Amino acid sequence: MKITGKTKIVGIFGYPIEHTFSPLMHNAAFSALGLDYCYIPFEVQPEDLKSAVEGIRALNIRGINITVPHKEAVIKYLDELSKEAKLIGAVNTIENKGGKLIGHNTDGRGFIKSLWDDAKTRVKGKRVLLLGAGGAGKGIAVSCALEGASEITIANRTIKKADELVGYLKRNFKKTKFSVIPLDGHEIAKGIAGADILINATSIGLKGKGLLPISQKDLHRDLVIYDLIYNPQITPLLKIAGRAGVKKAVNGLGMLIHQGALAFQIWTGKKPPVDVMKKAVL
Ligand code: ATR
Repeated sequence: MKITGKTKIVGIFGYPIEHTFSPLMHNAAFSALGLDYCYIPFEVQPEDLKSAVEGIRALNIRGINITVPHKEAVIKYLDELSKEAKLIGAVNTIENKGGKLIGHNTDGRGFIKSLWDDAKTRVKGKRVLLLGAGGAGKGIAVSCALEGASEITIANRTIKKADELVGYLKRNFKKTKFSVIPLDGHEIAKGIAGADILINATSIGLKGKGLLPISQKDLHRDLVIYDLIYNPQITPLLKIAGRAGVKKAVNGLGMLIHQGALAFQIWTGKKPPVDVMKKAVL
């Protein structure tokens, strides 16, 4: 990559930031299309977020991804929000449109695209069992509702958090049926029996640690399983799915790639080279 006076700068704000795959993924995509862009990681501490966002304008940075812990806090510094970002209440991509900063959320659509790309599954009319009611869970729930899921059941360890999320969803989406169950073995097994798609948006299984209250016998072969975790690539949930003969079970790498691809498209206006981005991450 040759940086010149004409190179356009994009990047990511997060803390910590050293584990991010995004620079690899985006710089590979810019190279592949011969675009004069460079993607840089910025370590931004929470107390510096405001100045960092002002810096986007001051330095004419063309676009910024936002990651942990800034996705919600950044909203108050932006000029406009996309419909998804507003509904999810979190931003992962900023577009600098001639000095106007627009907040997008490509995580949700990235998930929907990956579900189609990697598991040939659409959410419309489906019954979804979603594990987790944190930041990631909210994004997935909103996206599934936007896509027209018929039912969304949310299971969470802290019931109050799931109740609050379902209350919010009910106010915003009238066509989907929402309910809450506790994240424990007995209820989950029943929930799975009545679901078409099972999504893990908890951090259980991250780095191979922790076990979801799900056993092999709870799973059915036609259930579609999506684990947002991709480290390890064969997550504990995917291991059980394999033993149960589940036909479609995928990890969250595709969501990571597609959220990046959508950000790339917002910034450059070009069709993202998804295969190149995937290869860079792998
Ligand atoms: P993220 O942005 O990744 O969603 P988060 O907002 O902290 O992170 O949410 C983490 C999710 O994983 C929550 O649903 C959390 O459950 P609680 O709401 O009860 O905290 C869930 N989670 C994390 N560790 C867990 C554990 N050991 N057992 C059960 N659920 C867990």
